[in-house]
Amino acid sequence: MERTFGMIKPDAVAKGYAGAILAAIEEHGFKLVGFKKTRLSTALAQSFYAVHQERPFYNDLVKFMTEGPVVVMVLEKENAIADWRTLMGATNPEKADAGTLRKRFAQNIERNAVHGSDAPETAAVEIPFFFSSSELL
Ligand code: RTP
Ligand code: MG
Repeated sequence: MERTFGMIKPDAVAKGYAGAILAAIEEHGFKLVGFKKTRLSTALAQSFYAVHQERPFYNDLVKFMTEGPVVVMVLEKENAIADWRTLMGATNPEKADAGTLRKRFAQNIERNAVHGSDAPETAAVEIPFFFSSSELL
């Protein structure tokens, strides 16, 4: 069994898509071992996406990620990291496959509804960013 970190971004929470996204997650065989609603501070969003700090879209990304509440999640299944990225779809929803969450719920390459860890090392950093071990059940 593998665990990954996922997030429903502010655009999707504001539009009322959180329930549909959580349902799709369970339908695709992920166990929701942790989830909660929270709001990122600017400092937290900056450090969460620090890998992108030299990119031209970084400041906009931090502003977007702090504009409203998000749902943070820990998802468990075999091959959870890759399978969650597959269910999310491509970063740009115009390029996302039919049936993926970004195809269904994203607006554009920035306001793209969901986040997922991209590697085991990333998941190992991102999960404890938001959850203590006692919250993962
Ligand atoms: P994420 O980290 O959120 O799961 O998304 P990702 O791996 O598919 O994409 P990544 O390259 O890590 O980019 C992180 C987030 O930055 C925003 N972005 N905006 N305006 C742009 O060109 C642009 N490119 C990326 C998106 O919100 C993207 O998910
Ligand atoms: Mg990424």
